[in-house]
Amino acid sequence: MKIYYFDNSATSSPKPESIYKVVESAMKEFNANPGRAGHRKAVEAGRKIYEVREKIAKFFNIKNSLNIAFTANATESLNFAIKGGIPQNSHVITTNFEHNSVLRPLFYMQDEKDIKLTFVNTYDEIEKNITSETKAVVINHISNVNGTIQNIEEIGKICKKHNLLFILDASQSAGYSYIDMEKHNISILCLTGHKSIFGIQGIGAICIKDEIKIEPILEGGTGSFSKLSRQPKEMPEMLEAGTLNTPGILSLGAGIDFINEIGLKNIKKHEDILIEKFIIGLNKLEKIKVYKSFTKDQGPVVSLNIEGIDSGDLAQILDEEFGILVRPGFHCAPLAHKAIGTYEIGAVRFSFGYFNTEEEIDYALDALKNITLQI
Ligand code: ALA
Repeated sequence: MKIYYFDNSATSSPKPESIYKVVESAMKEFNANPGRAGHRKAVEAGRKIYEVREKIAKFFNIKNSLNIAFTANATESLNFAIKGGIPQNSHVITTNFEHNSVLRPLFYMQDEKDIKLTFVNTYDEIEKNITSETKAVVINHISNVNGTIQNIEEIGKICKKHNLLFILDASQSAGYSYIDMEKHNISILCLTGHKSIFGIQGIGAICIKDEIKIEPILEGGTGSFSKLSRQPKEMPEMLEAGTLNTPGILSLGAGIDFINEIGLKNIKKHEDILIEKFIIGLNKLEKIKVYKSFTKDQGPVVSLNIEGIDSGDLAQILDEEFGILVRPGFHCAPLAHKAIGTYEIGAVRFSFGYFNTEEEIDYALDALKNITLQI
């Protein structure tokens, strides 16, 4: 059975060929611990990693590539940003579309560090909720549930005007949306490598503006400053305790090369065509409830339910009978499901990527139509 992969919000699949190749070469050719010795293999691995830092810096317009630290995933980056960057007793504005990678650290801060939280649905509600206690805005750029895109240009302006820390979770947007650390006034950018950047799982990054100071929440070996009893304050070492994921880092770099080759705009355009076609098609079907973006911009992800079918059952039917792979349930984003009215029932999420085609969208629409005709 042919497989139709519509779970790109979870991880992009397939990857460009160059990713498989670079991971293999990282294992075979550069298989040494970067920054931990002066021998040729360690130095070569370190040099390759430096090149990827430079690529990330160029791609997101980050002034100093040393302010980019590699992490295991966006979750780790967000924990570093939220627990290490937000002051105690402060007020933070965030959205209902956050993933648990933001919600859980924020609720920890609420319980343990006395921060106060305000939740909004969309970026245009941020400014009116700012108080004298507000210190930070934490935003999921694109919702992994309904594709709501928050306007980071406007948020950046608001944060600059009110001198607020702007923490951006770009898990669903990096590699699809244009993101410019300077132009969008982002204080801390949190990335994952394995979604629209096409890298492998287990690699992420945190990018911090020069003037922003955060405290490390993870300590350990950095290959440098070995006699210091505490974690060095220098970036990137401060946030890079433990051996780096060289294959993952090189896959992230190869992913950025691939995006640059195709063109970010072309990737976005292709995915926008797919999501538009899908939503137009869904609107013609009966018995389907579609949960779209809360803003005028729609990311390449949408959730739906078919009347009378549990979301888990629908995903199973799609997989077993049609070879369609989607994610049902709550997508680690409980407040988003509250906002769209599916907190009790969940929803079935379709999320598209660069390698999906218009023919695949037609197939998915036909499959959904078939299912609705059988109930
Ligand atoms: N955060 C990923 C998703 O939305 C895993 O599926």
